[in-house]
Amino acid sequence: MKFNFDERIDRTGRGQAKWEPEILERLFGDRDLLSFWVADMDFRVAPPIREALVEAVEHGCMGYTSLDKSFYDAYINWQKRRNGWEPSVDWFRYTPGVVPAINLLLLSITEEGDEVLIQRPVYYPFTDSIVKQKRVVVSSALINEGGKYTIDFEDFEKKAASPKCKAFVMSNPHNPVGRVFTEEELRKIGEICNKHGVFVISDEIHSDLIAKGHKHVVYASLGKEFEQNCAICHAPSKTFNLAGLQLSCILIPNEEARAKFDAIQNRYSITSPNYFAPVAAKAAWNKGEEWLEACYDYMYENYKYIVDFCAAHWDGKVIVSPLEGTYLAWLDFRAIESDPEKLLNMVRKEGKVALDEGYIFGPEGAGFERINLACPKSLIVELMDRLAKFVK
Ligand SMILES: Cc1ncc(COP(=O)(O)O)c(C=O)c1O
Repeated sequence: MKFNFDERIDRTGRGQAKWEPEILERLFGDRDLLSFWVADMDFRVAPPIREALVEAVEHGCMGYTSLDKSFYDAYINWQKRRNGWEPSVDWFRYTPGVVPAINLLLLSITEEGDEVLIQRPVYYPFTDSIVKQKRVVVSSALINEGGKYTIDFEDFEKKAASPKCKAFVMSNPHNPVGRVFTEEELRKIGEICNKHGVFVISDEIHSDLIAKGHKHVVYASLGKEFEQNCAICHAPSKTFNLAGLQLSCILIPNEEARAKFDAIQNRYSITSPNYFAPVAAKAAWNKGEEWLEACYDYMYENYKYIVDFCAAHWDGKVIVSPLEGTYLAWLDFRAIESDPEKLLNMVRKEGKVALDEGYIFGPEGAGFERINLACPKSLIVELMDRLAKFVK
């Protein structure tokens, strides 16, 4: 194997949120947990990224940094090559993260008291951001049929049609349910949003992490009318394990929306990235594809291990949602234990593992667990053994 994803790397002593005992204690009340919660990887970054960063350290001048043509070229080529989408450089805005960008977009596109649509169970910072910005959360819950999630278009349109509904924050690929929305689904969503004047904030942070047989469609690539009513949020952070470098790519094709975003961004002086972020991002997009493909194949094998394990345990009653994209597995334990408190107790107190509990993604997630697959297989084996022992 060209890349060693099996190595168990000690990540402690470096302030890394996923594994630092002090942080686990603060968040989960226990220093000694096997960790599968926050969505970053237990793998070293791709060799070309490490090499580029070492070169940047050795060069040694770490002053103010701004994004240049070589950065934009690398980004646009990546989108062109992977998704057949060619954004204009003018649309590009830097933010330190996608969650900050969602907050800035909410501030620029909507007003206090406006309704903002989401699809629960969904990445919980969507709810937090909407609430923090004093907007109103409206959820059009996804329909779950035996672990496979679909959109309730009738309900979605009813909610989008409210005169107070001004934006829709979409996770595509969807965290935590693992759906990659099809072009047909995206068009239907987009037609509803365009008809009712609902701006689409398309969070595509997981869009480079797609299982075989599925295809990511950039929302803005659907056509002019879709492009002009959306913002695309993307980043190299999930894809290449660069979350600690804090660089996200926000594409706002509509001039007026962009001007409003700029006004808010300038108000808070969020303008230039850190010295290392563009170095790493360029190396990732220009030279990281081979590593990414191998890494996704490896993580998908972890997913298959969990699927097979669940089929062989708990009388096959634990349902694993099909993984179309992301590196997050979504497991339905309700047939074993429907009380989320009791489930949490079995998983964390007895099993000593840190997972993302399903209920944090909304009430529809109660009785579910989300497992981060981006780790050596031996850890997944240990996790599933512990779950089988303690979740009864
Ligand atoms: C859907 C989604 N959006 C955004 C983020 C994180 O964004 P950032 O760390 O860039 O703020 C995550 C991380 O898990 C995510 O799953």
